[in-house]
Amino acid sequence: MNLIAPSILSADFARLGDEVKAVIAAGADWIHFDVMDNHYVPNLTIGHGVAQALAPHLKRADGSAALLDVHLMVEPVDALAERFAEAGADLISFHPDATRHVDRTLQVIRGTGCKAGLAFNPAEPLDVLEWVIDKVDLVLVMSVNPGFGGQSFIDGALRKVERARAIIERSGRDIRLEVDGGIKVDNIRRVADAGADTFVAGSAIFGQPDYAAVIRAMRERLGSAQALEALAA
Ligand code: DX5
Ligand code: ZN
Repeated sequence: MNLIAPSILSADFARLGDEVKAVIAAGADWIHFDVMDNHYVPNLTIGHGVAQALAPHLKRADGSAALLDVHLMVEPVDALAERFAEAGADLISFHPDATRHVDRTLQVIRGTGCKAGLAFNPAEPLDVLEWVIDKVDLVLVMSVNPGFGGQSFIDGALRKVERARAIIERSGRDIRLEVDGGIKVDNIRRVADAGADTFVAGSAIFGQPDYAAVIRAMRERLGSAQALEALAA
């Protein structure tokens, strides 16, 4: 199933709780939480205290909760990953070049009970995946260089999504394939056709007054891809 994960990086930080509630009411599946440390990336955002404060706002009207999808752009990773797990993260992704021991960091994250994701920058190969695929729950393909919202989609990411999809299929494991950066209504279908199933969108959603309209339009574009999937299942 295709999932939409709005990135709150482009939300109004002064009203973050309300923004999260609004985007969940508008149909968000996950909340994508971008953590930047002004070290691994040249920008500084929000920490685990903010994640903890948002946790009560993740509930939907039907009692279910949106999943908290934490994207760590920090170096080193392990200690902060544990703080985010305590703060209520469901899934924690990190960049392999931000930790000395990728396999150990995956174990640290999974040891907390969270799902673990590996994020790949535009110029990075997927090579490491082969050796740790048994410990990965999500592959995050970056379609911009990490650090800022509102950048343009880098087309080369589509080929990487295709490759990641092939690796995931070969593994036979239940692994999400998420794409992050520059996703809009106009290009989401191309990203899905390359093999992605989880779509991060920050400025495309929070830059518009009607979040529900954007999410609906994205789902419409994804529609026939999803129908084909259902036929194949
Ligand atoms: C970039 C972040 C992305 C970004 C997405 O470093 O990881 O999640 O905020 O924002 P848009 O959709 O505006 O590219
Ligand atoms: Zn992100």
